Formats: sequence, C-alpha cells, structure tokens
Amino acid sequence: MQFSAKVSDISKQRSACAIISADAKNRLSSSGAALDKATGEIIGKVLKRGDLGSKLGSTLTLNLVEGPAERVLLVRSDEGVLSQADFRKLAKASANVAKGFKDATSYLTELEVADADSAWQAQQLVLAAGLAAYKFTRCLSDAKGNPLAKFTVHAPDSKQLKAVQRGVDIGAAQALGSNVARELGNLPGNICNPTYLAAEARTLAKKHATLTTTVLDDKKMASLGMGAFLSVAKGSDEPPALIAMHYQGGKSKGGKATDKPVVLVGKGITFDSGGISIKPGLQMDEMKFDMCGAASVFGVMHALLELQPAINVVGLVAAAENMPSGRASKPGDIVTSMSGKTIEILNTDAEGRLVLCDTLTYAAKFKPSIVIDVATLTGACVIALGNHATGLYANDDELAKELLAAGERTGDRAWHMPLWDEYQSSLDSNFADLQNIGGREAGSVTAACFLSRFAEDYTWAHLDIAGSAWNSGANKGATGRPVPLLMEYLLGK
Ligand code: BES
Ligand code: MN
Ligand code: ZN
Repeated sequence: MQFSAKVSDISKQRSACAIISADAKNRLSSSGAALDKATGEIIGKVLKRGDLGSKLGSTLTLNLVEGPAERVLLVRSDEGVLSQADFRKLAKASANVAKGFKDATSYLTELEVADADSAWQAQQLVLAAGLAAYKFTRCLSDAKGNPLAKFTVHAPDSKQLKAVQRGVDIGAAQALGSNVARELGNLPGNICNPTYLAAEARTLAKKHATLTTTVLDDKKMASLGMGAFLSVAKGSDEPPALIAMHYQGGKSKGGKATDKPVVLVGKGITFDSGGISIKPGLQMDEMKFDMCGAASVFGVMHALLELQPAINVVGLVAAAENMPSGRASKPGDIVTSMSGKTIEILNTDAEGRLVLCDTLTYAAKFKPSIVIDVATLTGACVIALGNHATGLYANDDELAKELLAAGERTGDRAWHMPLWDEYQSSLDSNFADLQNIGGREAGSVTAACFLSRFAEDYTWAHLDIAGSAWNSGANKGATGRPVPLLMEYLLGK
C-alpha cells in the first residue's frame, strides 16, 4: 500500500473516499465544511436527519453522484479536545470502512487531540489504515485481498507538511512490520517451521545491503553447549534454527558499525504441542502462534529496512518445534545450558524459556547496549492481563519506563510487572541449579524470573505477549504486536 501526506483542498481532491468528522453537535471540521458547501450542503442535511449514529466512532458512507470525492465517509467525533484513545477509535473505525475502497484521503488531522500534534495523528491514521487493510489470503484458493491501495493524510497547512510526512512514514513502517509479523504468525505450523523462518531471514539479507543474516543449525548449537535450546527440538522431526539478523544503520568506521546494538530476541516455537507434558486438544491449533515473538522480530527488521534509521539492531530468533516422541525430553530430565547452569525440566510445556535462555546467553556476544526478548511465554500472563496489555519485565527501571512510554505513544501498550527477588526461590530444584517451572502462582512472573538468570550481564527487558500477540474466536489471527511498541522505542533512542 502507498501512503502519503499532502495539503489537500477537499473541494478539488479526487478520491474514492474522503474521511471527515462531525462532532456531537453535527459540526464539521474545516475541510468537511468546505466539502459540504461544494456539494450543495448535502452532508449537513444528512447529519440533521440523524443518520450518523451518536456514538463516538460511528460511521456513515455517503455515495456522491458528483464532485471530486466519490464518497464521503462521515465519522462521529466529539466536541473539544479528544483524548488520544478516542482519536485512535476514530482512526480504527474509519479505516475499517475505508479498506473497502481503492483509495482514501483522511482529514481527521484537523481534529484537536490532547498532547499530540498532527504528525502523531498522521502516524496513528496510517497505522490504523495499514492494519485494517491486511488480510490473510495466502492459503485461500481465491486469494482476494482488500482493495485499499493508496491512503493519503491531509496536512492542515504547508508548515506542518514535513512533520506529517514523517508521521506517515513511521506509521507506514509500523504497519508494514506488524503485517509481516501477522503473516508469519498466521501461517500454519506445517508451512512456517524453523527452516522456513531461516529461509525468510536469508531472503531478506539478499535484498538489503544493510542486513546480514547467519543461521546456526543444531550442530553449531551443540558445539556452543546450548543443551537447553536443543532439548526442546529433540522430540521433533523439524530441525531447530537460531537465526541472527544484523541491521547496521549506525555510524560506521571503515565499514563497521560502531554503536552498540539493541538485541531483540524472539521466541520462535513454530508449534507448541507441549511435548510429553502434552496440552489438551481444545484450541491447540492456536499454538501455531507460539512463534509470534519471532514474527515480531522479523516485523521490526522489515520496518527498520523501510526507514533506515542510524541505529544498530540485532534480531535473534530462537526457532524450534515442541513435539512429543520417543526422543523428546521427559519431565525430570536435566540439561546443561550454554551458561553452564543446569536445568531440571519439570514440565516440557515450559519450553519457551528453554530456547530463550540459551539465546539470551548467546546475545552477550553482540556486546549489546540493551536486550529485549519477546515471547508468547505464559498462559498465566493472559489470565493476569487479558489481551489489552503486554506483560513487561525489566532488570532496569529506566528501560521499563521507556518501553511503557513507547507503547503508550503508539497505542500498543504494556504493563510493568514485578521481578522481585522474593519470587526467585520458586525455581529452586533439588537436583539441578534451577528448575524450569515455579509453582501454580504468579506463572508469568516466575517465567520472567527464569529468564532473568540468563540476562545478568546486560540491561534487559522481557515482553510476555501471550495475550496480546493474537486474537481468538471469530477474529482469530495474529495482531502484529508488539511491533509498533518496539519501533517506537527504537526510533525514540
Ligand atoms: N506457549 C505457551 C504459553 C501460552 C499458552 C501462550 C496459552 C498463550 C496461550 C507456553 O509454552 C506454555 O505452554 N507455558 C505453560 C507454562 C507452564 C507449564 C508453567 C503455561 O502457560 O501453561
Ligand atoms: Mn509450552
Ligand atoms: Zn510455548
């Protein structure tokens, strides 16, 4: 999809759909009023009739017989200054209708939003449009996507055009990255396996000069002593892969990027059956989404390549399939991680932390400024936070704050969870240095505690996206979260 910013005269702008708002008293913004005038006050009459619902975010499409805009999409806003959350509602609601037309121009930047400028508005409008237009068609025999191909955002005046354009570019990159993550997430486990993910990374590196990729196979992992990672893949016929994608946009001296990278680590369990501690059958299909952390790392890489910011980012993807078999790990097995710490596997369904702990140890090799892992790690996180917030843990309060703020700005929110020492003892084992599960309580916290034992040498955060990475039910599908949060954070650095 093509996104752009423009100071647009609505009475002349050709468009399949012009998006304008009416407040609670049916008052139009300035472009809306101009269009109303140019169309013989048709819009005003329709509003007076009461055809547009009164609830914020209600929409009504008017098909115009004449004029440069073929349709007007009316959205109900409110009087005065809108909250950011309300503006996002308008952005979403209008995008959900506009996705059905071949192009659209949004004039919602004329609204006033608390603590936000038109660049922020543009970013949110574009992100919402990009997300709304996405459709998973790859496995359909009739692969028809949404028609929306061009989305234009009105810049209220020429002074703001440059800033609005930047907002558009960032929103477009966040949408692209999110949709890359959604596509990988939605692909079934029989297509998207660790080998598939490795091939994706190699293809990406071939296309872009600023990206290099390396893939470690099981032999290489064994030589590095990654006994925890490999124990997860043992039960599967699919070989595991530890994928490293190195984006180098940072300052370079003699061709070598010198700034310390941010390392992102994604959990890439391409299917999580639970292993010998097998899961119940209900909704087990959704465990194809257990690589959404990895998918978000791919999404961020795509978004970075789009924007080419002057930073260095390493994306590590811990890819494996968790299956039961005669070769699979058994409860009680003890493995030695790359760090040297031994782990008693009391539950083979707590596999994410096993692939992640060795990947976190491996991450130190890149001398990172910061490490952030992203994982669909615990069902307990879904119980605690539902699907609205990502669970955020960090061994550094400053980093936690920055990530929370990044999520707030782009509407991809996280919630700070405790990583207190008091929780650590639940991982004590009688037979090894630690065990891979805590008790029944605080399951998301104890999983984070487990990871923290392997992230002691750098500043680190962990995002538990078990609730936020995908929707269940009628809207089943990957959300692309937390790509917007991560991009917002990386660009804000
Ligand atoms: N991938 C799951 C976590 C999960 C479950 C995410 C349901 C979203 C929905 C993870 O590998 C897992 O199975 N975790 C266990 C941990 C337990 C055995 C300590 C869980 O949450 O039940
Ligand atoms: Mn599991
Ligand atoms: Zn899992």
